[in-house]
Amino acid sequence: MPEDSERLARLARAWDDAAAGYDAYFVPRFAPWVELAVSAVVEADLPDGPILVPCCGTFPEAELLVERFPDREIAGIDLSDGMVARARERTSPWPNVTAIVGDAATLDPRWSGECAAVVSVFGLQQLPDPGLVMRSWLDALGPGGRLSVVFWPEKTETDGPFALMSEVVRGRLSAGEARPDRFAEIVTGHGAALERDEFVSYPMTHADASTFFDAFTRSGPARALALAQGDAFMDSLREEFLRLAPSGEWVHHPQARLIVAHR
Ligand SMILES: C[S@@+](CC[C@H](N)C(=O)[O-])C[C@H]1O[C@@H](n2cnc3c(N)ncnc32)[C@H](O)[C@@H]1O
Repeated sequence: MPEDSERLARLARAWDDAAAGYDAYFVPRFAPWVELAVSAVVEADLPDGPILVPCCGTFPEAELLVERFPDREIAGIDLSDGMVARARERTSPWPNVTAIVGDAATLDPRWSGECAAVVSVFGLQQLPDPGLVMRSWLDALGPGGRLSVVFWPEKTETDGPFALMSEVVRGRLSAGEARPDRFAEIVTGHGAALERDEFVSYPMTHADASTFFDAFTRSGPARALALAQGDAFMDSLREEFLRLAPSGEWVHHPQARLIVAHR
């Protein structure tokens, strides 16, 4: 299997494993950012055309979009069969909503220039070349179409469980190259108008550090790390994480980045 297909297959397997727990643990905690991304689209006058939701996961964006656009074609795309199976369950009441298994980094040409909106939450930061992907999502928009993307930046918080997780992982594995942070230039350089570029934080609560660690590594973004590194690595990571973490309930305020643009 070529290297890229192998990487995608591993990532898809990680999210398959995570799907049930992700829906239960992270979807309610990430809900304010989903509302933020969707509101930038539902509050606008959209042109005709479908709404695309790359990296839809279990598709929490769907209900808010259907409320406002009950008759419009709304299509979610996700790499993971497990996520898409849950997305199809969630959206089964609405015949205008579909969930498709696929790589959101290389959109099917049939979307090109056709979409009224592209909305994506917490997918972009996982893609190997997010700048290129943002350009391709802009290319999917027709005239007047809107892009609304929420993603985790390199630094989400100075303390809190996300920061501590990055610190303990970085202590064991070399950090990847810092990602270029040029999304605003990418939008304007690609012929779209930038409307919003903001960092937005909401409070998130975890019962304690071990509850967070287990959710994050079994049902969240670090599932892929756990599969790649194995049990011994994860046990020692967990031990260090819990040694450095505060005891009791853990409330933090991570910030995500919102970019809204139109054609
Ligand atoms: C953190 S979840 C976010 C899901 C949903 N948007 C939400 O806010 O709950 C990230 C999703 O991105 C998907 N993903 C990662 N890489 C992808 C790719 N190249 N193409 C499509 N989906 C991808 C994962 O399978 C996972 O379901």
